[in-house]
Amino acid sequence: MLDLHCHLLPAIDDGAADLDMALEMARMAVADGIGTVACTPHIYPGLYENAGEGIRAAIAALQARLDEAGIALRLVEGADVHLVPGLLPAIRAGTVPTLAGSRYLLLEPPHHVAPPGFEDAVFGFMAAGLVPVITHPERLSWVEDHYATFLRLSRRGAWMQVTAGALTGRFGRRPQYWAQRFVGEGHCMLLATDAHHPRRRPPLLAEAREAAARLVGAEEAALMVAGRPQGIVGDRPPGELPEALALRDATAVASGEGAWPRLRRLFSGRR
Ligand SMILES: [Fe+2]
Repeated sequence: MLDLHCHLLPAIDDGAADLDMALEMARMAVADGIGTVACTPHIYPGLYENAGEGIRAAIAALQARLDEAGIALRLVEGADVHLVPGLLPAIRAGTVPTLAGSRYLLLEPPHHVAPPGFEDAVFGFMAAGLVPVITHPERLSWVEDHYATFLRLSRRGAWMQVTAGALTGRFGRRPQYWAQRFVGEGHCMLLATDAHHPRRRPPLLAEAREAAARLVGAEEAALMVAGRPQGIVGDRPPGELPEALALRDATAVASGEGAWPRLRRLFSGRR
């Protein structure tokens, strides 16, 4: 599996606090079946002033320590890019890294307010030839009033990345409910750990792959943790990769061969 959202680099943001913690998280990831991790520290002006050059140097340093320690994990670059105005020139200049240098950009919307012009901003990235990968829509406090916005973006080619731990209930019932909606209704393209800590936010993906498989089948679940992330790392155009299940196989989802009956059972009596 490939985990394309992980705060593994030591002492660069609110993820791994030091090298020992990064190595512990890396060992956990490998034991879980993860072979490639994108190191995606926050880029958040005024809070985490990370930039491409520093991220790449930190990745090279950590990769050397992993290799020395015999931990079979391949690191690629990335960033958890907070949505602010003026990102495009910084992306073109390489100061804001995309995932593994590809056209896929990990984009973090604000947590507590729907930003004005959100859809326009996302379309702006698409018009520039990027594929925005929207991080953890299921954990945003404003998803409840804006679920349709995310489905519209998904239909138009933005990718939704659901947090593995949200799907398995590690973030509580509301994020789990929305994670199950995104996955079960066929709009989740990727699962990633967004790991920050070995215990509080662990780098575990396999349990979420199993949870996704119960909703949409093993094949689609494997696409979320291996097939599509591999395509991103290889910078394959999105048109060459399997699109969201709801778009690819709407009849299966709607007719009940997909997620609907299981979702109904899951949600009956819960809300
Ligand atoms: Fe993150």
